[in-house]
Amino acid sequence: MLDLFPRSAQVARGELQLGGLTAAELAERFGTPLVVYCEETLRAQARALRAAVGDGGRVFYGTKAFPNVAVLRLLLEEGIGADVASAGELAFARAAGLSGPELVVHGNNKDEALLSDAAAERAPVVLDGAYEVELAADAGLERVLVRVTLGVDADTHEAIVTGHHGSKFGLPPAEAKTAVSDGLARGLHVLGLHVHVGSQLPDFTAQAETIRRLAAFAAECRNELGWEARVVDLGGGFGIRHHADEDVPDAVVLATSAVGTARAAFAAAALPEPVVWLEPGRSLVGRAGVTLYRVGAIKRLPERTWVAVDGGMSDNPRPQLYDARYTALSAARAEEDADDLVSVAGMHCESGDVLIDDVVLPTPRRGDLLAVPATGAYTLAMSSNYNGVPRPAAVLVRDGHARLIRRRETVDDLLALEP
Ligand SMILES: Cc1ncc(COP(=O)(O)O)c(C=O)c1O
Repeated sequence: MLDLFPRSAQVARGELQLGGLTAAELAERFGTPLVVYCEETLRAQARALRAAVGDGGRVFYGTKAFPNVAVLRLLLEEGIGADVASAGELAFARAAGLSGPELVVHGNNKDEALLSDAAAERAPVVLDGAYEVELAADAGLERVLVRVTLGVDADTHEAIVTGHHGSKFGLPPAEAKTAVSDGLARGLHVLGLHVHVGSQLPDFTAQAETIRRLAAFAAECRNELGWEARVVDLGGGFGIRHHADEDVPDAVVLATSAVGTARAAFAAAALPEPVVWLEPGRSLVGRAGVTLYRVGAIKRLPERTWVAVDGGMSDNPRPQLYDARYTALSAARAEEDADDLVSVAGMHCESGDVLIDDVVLPTPRRGDLLAVPATGAYTLAMSSNYNGVPRPAAVLVRDGHARLIRRRETVDDLLALEP
């Protein structure tokens, strides 16, 4: 199970360590729930994905996975830009020192303010709707891509497929072609095309098919409009393992395949070799993050044993949204025999607030620390204050040092929102 945890994770003297610090000392110092990010894992994954696209290509972090200034800054140091999809995400990226070509701006409902911010940044924008062509020209945008939806239904949860027919994202091919020609007519520099098939993809099938269709569409654009896509942005979507039973191919291998498939498909269509952009979110930061929870109530019922922790759907709503499955390690009792099958419940007023349906732990005790791996992406980013619960803190660990990268909210923070 340690392979689900970040690279620096190890068990020493029966205790889980992350970045050279025991989970117990991190919990003691920063409180729980706590999301612990491993710097070594973040940097290693950033370097590997960067290498996968090669010198000409670019990697933009899908900021939505965890918008955080320290993480964005660290990834920038590794040569990674940011895909931002709102004024807020753009502000995080700017605060981290990203600008202009280090950014790519998304959104299926961008407003004028976001487009003029993008224009001021001279950041490329991915057009997602026909109406945006005029807005983009009015905002004074220079460089755009057009997001095309090629009708590929990826094998992932229905809430996170995006490239299917009828998707709220992107434009079907005929409309996308019109957006390209309208953009050119309005003097926009249309750099290329964008696709994003879905998230937590279990394999390369849907992406491979999308890339093949993308090359065919790019050839149509060349034949009918005399315009060639020089950039292909293949979005994000590479999955990660959250659970020992999950079998997901390595993101770096998939990224390499995506780049190779795009080049080969464009060459086969006699199109110039495209510059490939990728926008990984989950696969960049997911495995780097571990959430530490403190066990409170334990209820033994004939049907099952509930172990309640001090967080739940407010800090990680993925089990409710996508039927996500997690596992856990008893962090300070990591070498004790695990023979008690339990369910880990959150603390919220919903029966559906179950973090883990089944996990085998050493007989749980109040005060135990549970470490839930692969929780670096779409957890804090999707968190809420349900039940008036303040959001957890996040720390970055490395070589025995921990740095707070997001402070814990307080009840006063929540009250401060009330006029
Ligand atoms: C346009 C776009 N790019 C990138 C991503 C990041 O996806 P993932 O975290 O699955 O890599 C998303 C996620 O929804 C997206 O919509």
